[in-house]
Amino acid sequence: MSNVVPSVKLHDGLEIPVIGFGTANMKGNQGSTAIASAISNGYRLIDTAYNYENEGAVGEGIRRSNISREQLQVASKLPGRYHQYDEAVEAIQESLFRANLDYFDLYLIHWPNPKQDHYVEAWQALIDAKKWGLIRSIGVSNFLPEHLERLEEETGVLPSINQIELHPFFNQEEQRKWHEEHGIVTESWSPLYRAKHTMENETLQYVAHKYNKSVAQVILRWHYQLGAVTIPKSTSPTRQVENISIFDFALDYEDMEMIGKLTRADGRINDQNPAEYEEF
Ligand SMILES: NC(=O)c1ccc[n+]([C@@H]2O[C@H](COP(=O)([O-])OP(=O)(O)OC[C@H]3O[C@@H](n4cnc5c(N)ncnc54)[C@H](OP(=O)(O)O)[C@@H]3O)[C@@H](O)[C@H]2O)c1
Repeated sequence: MSNVVPSVKLHDGLEIPVIGFGTANMKGNQGSTAIASAISNGYRLIDTAYNYENEGAVGEGIRRSNISREQLQVASKLPGRYHQYDEAVEAIQESLFRANLDYFDLYLIHWPNPKQDHYVEAWQALIDAKKWGLIRSIGVSNFLPEHLERLEEETGVLPSINQIELHPFFNQEEQRKWHEEHGIVTESWSPLYRAKHTMENETLQYVAHKYNKSVAQVILRWHYQLGAVTIPKSTSPTRQVENISIFDFALDYEDMEMIGKLTRADGRINDQNPAEYEEF
């Protein structure tokens, strides 16, 4: 087994690597240096968002790297305050101007904000922006099955990908199953649980020791074997390499099950249930 990063095909035909690079809070010069480092360490999918206020740092990181734009995939996200159609169209254009890019490979609606109830309009804007060539593939983030069903009912188009909170303490079994049945790829945000209680967890340490890998590698391998795309973030070049080097071993069934059992009903990091939580 080699450490080449495999890719997964989305339902609209776009192929993306199964590990991308998370960039929340990476801004300015330090941010673009970390992003350029991630690219030189093999990451080819970069995850950003309008609300991270770092699309500029992502664009700069890409230009500082020695990899061409065509070899990279960039994903950004539409903030909740711009869900109305005209505003969504402008925000997508503004995202591109900030990144100084001509197109995004992926663009997601960041949160559904169901109480505002404008996410279908936002989705229509993404559908049109794809037709205009501004985006190659359109997806969502933090959408529950009820929100996804509504998109399909009202526009006939299901997202290619749904980026959701997923880590060993919140394994999203039902939501993942729903995605699988509907041809939607699951992408895990905060895949390492922000390295808060994961690194010290006894079960994860036991499995890591068994395979002679780090806890982070075991967690990211678990995501991969679940069929999820991950976007771990690290400012450290050493940890960037560590996190992407998970394709030379495989967790056995018992270890997958053991990690799956760490999940808890209240396992979300900040209790951000998309049925209630809103972000603008
Ligand atoms: N769609 C959404 O609503 C949403 C919400 C949250 C996040 N996201 C996306 O998901 C990405 C990833 O999530 P995240 O940044 O919240 O958390 P994460 O990737 O789970 O964890 C990042 C933290 O883990 C540490 N870390 C990384 N690799 C490590 C390793 N091998 N060993 C030990 N510690 C390690 C990092 O520190 P160092 O930098 O020091 O290595 C950093 O503090 C974000 O950057 C963002 O792009 C999306």
